[in-house]
Amino acid sequence: MLSFMRIMYVCLGNICRSPLAEAVCRSLLSEYGLEGSVSVESSGTCAYHVGEPADPRMRSAAARKGIHITHVSRQFAKDYASYDMIIAMDEENRRYLMQHAPDEASRARVHLLRDFDPLGPGDLEDPYYGGPEGFNDAVTVTLRSCRGLLEVVRERLHGGK
Ligand code: 4NP
Repeated sequence: MLSFMRIMYVCLGNICRSPLAEAVCRSLLSEYGLEGSVSVESSGTCAYHVGEPADPRMRSAAARKGIHITHVSRQFAKDYASYDMIIAMDEENRRYLMQHAPDEASRARVHLLRDFDPLGPGDLEDPYYGGPEGFNDAVTVTLRSCRGLLEVVRERLHGGK
């Protein structure tokens, strides 16, 4: 049985959805008894926003739920073997990750966030070009999905206990 798991969340720009998922997931670890057993990171498939903090609209929507995003954008380094689970925010990101994976073991690490959503599956919609509701919805869906994901992680690490 695994004793430690490394999670990487991936979106397009790494300034909205995947920094949110990283912060949400980290905020839930203690509730799931997983603090110290899981590392959580995020990155983007594109390099447009590398070095930037998360979008202020995303940070505000998360902060209203007590989740604080401090991440600085970086590009996914295609270091598949460094992670146990690589979680794409939407189908386009998932396709990118599958296409660039060097082997079957790497492809097997790639999942879609909302495959862990009890109300999924589907894409976590990109809120970047929309209004404030999109950011609030992203927080709701991400909280639900990360809870589903951490149940799976807990099962893998501790047999569900
Ligand atoms: P993200 O959102 O992939 O959730 O970080 C986006 C941020 C920026 C852009 C697209 C999506 N952009 O085209 O600049």
